[in-house]
Amino acid sequence: MSPLHVTRTLPEDATDAALRADVLHGLTATPKWLPPKWFYDARGSELFEQITQLPEYYPTRAEREILADRSGEIAAASGACTLVELGSGSSEKTRYLIDALPLAAYVPVDVSESALTQAGQALVGERPDLHVHALIADFTAPLDLPATPGPRLVAFLGGTIGNLLPVERARFLASVRTLLAPGDGLLLGTDLVKDERVLVRAYDDAAGVTAAFNKNVLAVVDRELGADFDPDAFDHVALWDAEREWIEMRLRSRTAQTVKVPALDLAVDFAAGEELRTEVSAKFRKEGVTAELAAVGLELTHWWTDAQDRFALSLSVAR
Ligand SMILES: C[S@@+](CC[C@H](N)C(=O)[O-])C[C@H]1O[C@@H](n2cnc3c(N)ncnc32)[C@H](O)[C@@H]1O
Repeated sequence: MSPLHVTRTLPEDATDAALRADVLHGLTATPKWLPPKWFYDARGSELFEQITQLPEYYPTRAEREILADRSGEIAAASGACTLVELGSGSSEKTRYLIDALPLAAYVPVDVSESALTQAGQALVGERPDLHVHALIADFTAPLDLPATPGPRLVAFLGGTIGNLLPVERARFLASVRTLLAPGDGLLLGTDLVKDERVLVRAYDDAAGVTAAFNKNVLAVVDRELGADFDPDAFDHVALWDAEREWIEMRLRSRTAQTVKVPALDLAVDFAAGEELRTEVSAKFRKEGVTAELAAVGLELTHWWTDAQDRFALSLSVAR
């Protein structure tokens, strides 16, 4: 069995420095915000896996349905020998691709070390022939990928692209394009615009798992920066912004309170009812996805949806 290679592309203290910068920037802004990548410590990654099983959270099931039906077509169209997956998490749905593609190497990339090592260890056990080279890295920063055989397929599943703001998304797609040689492909999972009630329920489930996931970012800031956020002093909020066509997750302060962040020498005042934005999750339409890909030199060649048209998987090719 080939061993699991895990590479941390950033020094340990880079994560700490990035968290400090984001918390300082976001909690002193109006309105306040924090980037969603800080949800994903070991507990956050575990909570996300629970979300994927919830009856209200259709995106994982819809994308799995497409992968189960279409992986053969994806393999025929791309013929990739290396699969790079950004924000790979548990790599659970990816198995359809891993089984269908003529792969020599799989390169999962994630900020969550616990998710990467768990998924990577399971995979090397199941597929001793596959070279698994996991990268602990931030996919919004330039990536230094290992030298592996082409053609390369970069997969970005789960609708995670929707967590980037439009300007970040354009920058991100341009940087993904630099990872692709002519003929290489991008397999992109995008959640689609649909009935507001279905969307809001997916981010505000009856069992409260998404609320716990949302509040986990406060636990991360408490643990890493010595802050005194009390998660119970905030309410989980999920709402649909019809103009921007995205879901926003927020944390609403129940009372007027001051939160201290000693590592930053910072005291943050919250008014009663004040909201902190923790995630956007943009929803897409085919025309928009095609145009955003074309803007960075990627030609959309395939567009697959689940039977209920809830979620789309697109394949685009670098020209
Ligand atoms: C919404 S989950 C999707 C997981 C999986 N791809 C799926 O479809 O179920 C987002 C994943 O991206 C990772 N992630 C979020 N922001 C990231 C970033 N900036 N760089 C690298 N990984 C990130 C998280 O740790 C998590 O595993």
